[in-house]
Amino acid sequence: MNNATNTSDTRNPLLGGRGAVAVIGAGTMGNGIAHVFAQSGFAVTLIDVSAVQLENAIATISKNFDRQVAKGTITEEVKALAMANISTATTIADGVKNASLVVEAATENTELKLNIFKQLDEAAPAGCILASNTSSISITKIAAATKRPELVIGMHFMNPVPVMKLVEIINGYATSNEVTSTIVGLSKQLGKIPCVVNDYPGFIANRILMPMINEAIYSLYEGVAGVAEIDTVMKLGMAHPMGPLQLADFIGLDVCLSILKVLQDGFGNPKYAPCPLLVNMVMAGRLGVKSGEGFYIYTAGSKELVVSESFK
Ligand SMILES: NC(=O)c1ccc[n+]([C@@H]2O[C@H](COP(=O)([O-])OP(=O)(O)OC[C@H]3O[C@@H](n4cnc5c(N)ncnc54)[C@H](O)[C@@H]3O)[C@@H](O)[C@H]2O)c1
Repeated sequence: MNNATNTSDTRNPLLGGRGAVAVIGAGTMGNGIAHVFAQSGFAVTLIDVSAVQLENAIATISKNFDRQVAKGTITEEVKALAMANISTATTIADGVKNASLVVEAATENTELKLNIFKQLDEAAPAGCILASNTSSISITKIAAATKRPELVIGMHFMNPVPVMKLVEIINGYATSNEVTSTIVGLSKQLGKIPCVVNDYPGFIANRILMPMINEAIYSLYEGVAGVAEIDTVMKLGMAHPMGPLQLADFIGLDVCLSILKVLQDGFGNPKYAPCPLLVNMVMAGRLGVKSGEGFYIYTAGSKELVVSESFK
């Protein structure tokens, strides 16, 4: 019998707030994902090939909890309980052996993810759900690397994970209704708002966001308006909290370029072709916040938004 629509199915240990969760990749997203699961009472194993990255992630999670304590949204006791829920591992085999759910948030690279899912399929218990936080790689393709495609799903958290409410849930071609229903229920348990979409290039978030960012870059490239003007029109005119060029810097221009290429290849439609200015900026290493300069210049300790000299 299929319990597809029953989101309160407590037979699944995840929905009862029990069950162990493994998070693969201790970078920007992995540490945020571990944070929210641990805060909701799950035992979390954070896995990374780099022990240094694991150490940094634990320090970041602790600092982010401190921020919540300072704001009064959680107590020191809640922080201590959550931190005690997190352990670390440097191999998949060690980290996933007791997991009911794995959330993969390793580097965005197709071969790397296919290889991780092959290993997960061998190491994770039967019945364990395998989710990916990929921004752009096909869930159907990732699922096909395993012998349990019905248990593979996209769980696309937004950055910063502890703050952003949305989880875009992506059904692969073979994902079972029961798995979708479990992940919807689980996302709500984490205090998030799930939205279920189907697996086509860019899903929904990036299919709509990236062409907007690309169009903003084209507008700059064609001299329609300057950086500050483009962002101001979108902030004040459309009530966006951040303009598209600033958002592109925040996401990383290399990441934007790579997602646009996924859309262009996936749909075979030239409307997704990345703006030549974006391509040039990535080749020049102007990647946005992470490289210190993109459309704006980023100086440590300063929150002032200063347009890059290249666009003055
Ligand atoms: N950064 C964002 O804004 C954002 C938003 C939504 C989704 N995503 C997606 O989340 C995923 C992670 O992105 P990120 O920004 O956190 O990347 P990141 O570069 O900050 O972290 C990736 C981590 O994966 C680790 N890693 C690489 N290979 C591994 C392996 N074989 N096993 C275990 N760990 C491994 C790296 O050591 C690194 O710590 C990507 O799929 C990305 O598309 C990112």
